[in-house]
Amino acid sequence: VTANGESGFLERLEGAVSSLPPAVLTDAYARLSTAYRFEDPAAALRSGPHAREAYLAARAPATYAAIGAALGEVAPHLGAPESLLDLGAGPGTASWAASEILPSLAAFTLIEADRPMAELGRRLAAASRLGTAHWINARLEGASLPESDLVLACYVLNELSPQARETVIRAAFRASRDALVLVEAGTPAGFAILRAAREALTAEGAHVIAPCTHEAACPMAGADWCHFAALLPRTAAHRQAKAVGASLETEKFAYLAVARGKPALRSKSRIVRRPMIRSGHVVLDLCAEDGLSRVTVSRRSGALYRASRDAAWGEAWPPDMT
Ligand SMILES: C[S@@+](CC[C@H](N)C(=O)[O-])C[C@H]1O[C@@H](n2cnc3c(N)ncnc32)[C@H](O)[C@@H]1O
Repeated sequence: VTANGESGFLERLEGAVSSLPPAVLTDAYARLSTAYRFEDPAAALRSGPHAREAYLAARAPATYAAIGAALGEVAPHLGAPESLLDLGAGPGTASWAASEILPSLAAFTLIEADRPMAELGRRLAAASRLGTAHWINARLEGASLPESDLVLACYVLNELSPQARETVIRAAFRASRDALVLVEAGTPAGFAILRAAREALTAEGAHVIAPCTHEAACPMAGADWCHFAALLPRTAAHRQAKAVGASLETEKFAYLAVARGKPALRSKSRIVRRPMIRSGHVVLDLCAEDGLSRVTVSRRSGALYRASRDAAWGEAWPPDMT
């Protein structure tokens, strides 16, 4: 399961920036991207007059795809959550992805510090399942978080100071009745934030649902970092903002999902690199309770070999073959 744009979110994002001349969008995105990569990510939305529109055109489609991919892996472990709390909501990206993947969701609360961004998000959601969402214009630090079945914090933890981040992560878990899902960029820095969150949250009694299939110490060390990739279609506005022609983009992301209860079913391992399909065998890099390993599934393995040829980076392994 992934969010595939059925809700119309991508069209709405594109519609919201359609009045901007292409050159203005391209310039705004160049500034936004520089701010995220080399300056202060927490100030990126103020990097120019159209920074928020640039976010809508060229970042929100990618974060939406990544959050959708993460939630697709997490969904089988969730019950039927009815309420969602979206922290650092931006234009509501995570709520839109969750609304597609978790049809049981009926009540959405979004907390966003940047007032103009929250306003854009409100407008995007008009006459949709998110139309009745409750938007709170506040900073997460010190905000009182309403209890919700599912809490999401996506692409926001890197914008907080280390101290605020730890406080917000703990408060987010306390606010979650069922589960908390964190998504960050698939970079060493994004992963480091989630690795620290995993340690802090498991020490508080949280159970890891995904991507880890276990609660042993994380074996990713040194130059290795746990991340995945989501492939997404680029809208025309997205291509304009980035001044690129290619119609597909890959967004690398890292995520962590924890729950209050122990997951009923756990897969043995997860595929943590792109599978290498060779003639007569497939090589899989796996993470499991006993650490990282590389396994070769050969033609002799029959059904398991056939499954390995369809296996994708990020999926649990072995698949349920019943
Ligand atoms: C990179 S955007 C991510 C938006 C959305 N979650 C997504 O995944 O597309 C980060 C958002 O978090 C908001 N934000 C940053 N620091 C915040 C804070 N301390 N309190 C509330 N919102 C914050 C920013 O204004 C921005 O809209």
